[in-house]
Amino acid sequence: MKTKSRSSSRGQSKRIEPMHDGNGLHELFEMELKDIYWAEKALTKAIPKMIKKATSEELISALEEHLSVTENQVRRVEQVFEMMKMSPKAKKCEGIDGILKEGEEIMKEAEAGMPRDAGIIAAAQKVEHYEIASYGTLCAFAKTLGMDKEAELLAETLNEEKEADAKLSEIAESSVNEEAMHTESGMTT
Ligand SMILES: [Fe+2]
Ligand SMILES: [Fe+2]
Repeated sequence: MKTKSRSSSRGQSKRIEPMHDGNGLHELFEMELKDIYWAEKALTKAIPKMIKKATSEELISALEEHLSVTENQVRRVEQVFEMMKMSPKAKKCEGIDGILKEGEEIMKEAEAGMPRDAGIIAAAQKVEHYEIASYGTLCAFAKTLGMDKEAELLAETLNEEKEADAKLSEIAESSVNEEAMHTESGMTT
């Protein structure tokens, strides 16, 4: 027996990409994967800029480490695409783009030294939180879709992002914030 399709939202001004029947979650998964692929690649270019502007040795080494972790995460996303028999494709991630633009502004305005380091940590943690949300979603989608191998790979990255976030908190709380507070003026303007 045929069932009538229920959801037809007509009259919308914005056209929404059609999804395959019964495959909406898979489409969403692909969209999220393309988004995070763009984000990770953008981060491999943005982290070196943060490293250049940072002062604290601890922050520099944490960023350097996360840069190589991020390069590996790009490859891991490519692996997930391959497992799905797709060629890797990136779609501009407006969220990360915005966070990185904000970060650049902070780096321009904050005084060199600990105030700027505190700003870099703030921007980097916003990035990590975005990534944690994205990979958390990707893992949940993959599990629901029965893509266990993909979910496992994505969970590895999720853990790395959580570790990076915790490390940044530790650096901020152990030294940078305190020293930034004792700098006369935090902003150059
Ligand atoms: Fe990442
Ligand atoms: Fe990250």
